[in-house]
Amino acid sequence: ERVVLAYSGGLDTSVAIPYLAEKMDAEVVCVAVDLGQGGEDMEAIQKRAIDCGAVESVVVDAKEEFAADFCVPALQANALYMDRYPLVSSLSRPLIVKHLVSAAQQFGGTVVSHGCTGKGNDQVRFEAGLAALAPDLKVVAPARDFAWTRDKAIEYAEAKGLPIETSKKNPFSIDQNLWGRAVETGFLEDIWNGPTEEVYSYTADPSQPREPDEVVITFEAGVPVRIDGRSLTPYQVIDELNQRAGAQGVGRIDMVEDRLVGIKSREVYEAPGAVALISAHMELENVTVERDLARFKRGVDQRWSELVYDGLWFSPLKDALDALIAEAQKHVSGDVRMILHAGKATVTGRRSAQSLYDFSLATYDTGDTFDQSLAKGFVQLFSLPAKIAAARDAKKG
Ligand code: ARG
Ligand code: SIN
Repeated sequence: ERVVLAYSGGLDTSVAIPYLAEKMDAEVVCVAVDLGQGGEDMEAIQKRAIDCGAVESVVVDAKEEFAADFCVPALQANALYMDRYPLVSSLSRPLIVKHLVSAAQQFGGTVVSHGCTGKGNDQVRFEAGLAALAPDLKVVAPARDFAWTRDKAIEYAEAKGLPIETSKKNPFSIDQNLWGRAVETGFLEDIWNGPTEEVYSYTADPSQPREPDEVVITFEAGVPVRIDGRSLTPYQVIDELNQRAGAQGVGRIDMVEDRLVGIKSREVYEAPGAVALISAHMELENVTVERDLARFKRGVDQRWSELVYDGLWFSPLKDALDALIAEAQKHVSGDVRMILHAGKATVTGRRSAQSLYDFSLATYDTGDTFDQSLAKGFVQLFSLPAKIAAARDAKKG
C-alpha cells in the first residue's frame, strides 16, 4: 500500500514517515506544497523526506496558483474570520488537498495522511476537502489517530536518528504561507502573556521609528494588478506588500479565536500583505459598489469567511457566494493610495473610472447639484412606519 503524506518538513510530519511505513507496512510518498512560505528551503524539505525514509518526495510549486485562486478570492471577500483573522491556514488546506489527490493518482496512493491533531481546524479542512474531491481515499492522521504527542515525536526522532533539528527549543506551532503566518502554543497558551518579538518573522516591530512608505495599488475587477504603476502577478503583488508592509510592522494580530471543534485558542498572526490589500480593496468597493449591494455583500463576506474557516471550501454554499462576490467585483477597478507606517496601512486617496462618488452631489460648496428640497418629504415617508409605531406605544403607556 502507498500512503501519500502532506509533508511540511517539520518534526511531526518527518516522524510520520518511518512511523506510517512501519505501522501500516506501507510505502510513503511525501508531497510538500510551496505556498510562498517565507524563508523555507523547499529543496532541503524534499531531501529530508527521502532521508526520513520516503520512497518518493515531490515539491509542488503552487505559489501563483495559491495567490490567484485562493488569496485573490479571499481578498475579494475581504475575508476576516471574527473580523480579524485573514484565513491564512484555512486558505492553504484545500489547495494542499488538491495536490495530494493528484499525487495519489500519479503514484498509486490509496491512503492520504496529514499531521494535524484532533483538536484543531486543519484536520477538518483536509478531510472535508478530501471528502469532496476524492471520497474513496482513506485518511490517516498519526498525531490524532495514534495519539502522538510532541515529546513522543521528539523521542522517536532521536531514537531513529532522523535528520531533523528536534527543536525542543522552538515551543511554537507555526503555519505560514504567502497570505500570512500563524503562531500558537508555548507560552502563548497563557492568554495574559504578551507576544515577544521572537514570535514574529514577517513583520518588524511597529514601535521602532522609521520613514513611512507610500504605495499605490491598482485593481482591475477586484484583482490587484499593479503596484506603483508596475504590472505584477497576484503572487508578486502579495509578496511585495508582505515585504513593504511587513517592514512597517503592519498586520500583527493577537486574538483568542473560536475553533470549529468548540475550543477557544490563542493565536498570533502576522499578515502584512493581506491586511494592507484588504484595507485597500474595501475602500475601492466603498467607491465603486452600489449601496445595497455593498451592504448585502458584507454579510456574504462574513459567511464566506466562516465557511472557509470551517473547511468548506468545496461546498455548494461557497460556490454560490463566490458567484455573488464575482458579480460584485465587476466595477471594482481603480487606484488606492496608502501610507504604510507604524503598524498601520492607512488609505489616503482613491480614484476610479467606475467611481460612484459624484463631487457635485457630495459637495457643500458651490457647484452643488443635490436638490435638498426633495429631502424633506423623503425623510417624512422614510420615518413614517417608526412614527406610527411610536404613537401606538405611547398610547399604551
Ligand atoms: N487557528 C488558525 C486556523 O485555524 C491557525 C492554524 C495553524 N495551523 C497549524 N498547524 N499551526 O486557521
Ligand atoms: C492542529 O491542531 O493540528 C493545528 C491547529 C489547527 O488545526 O487549528
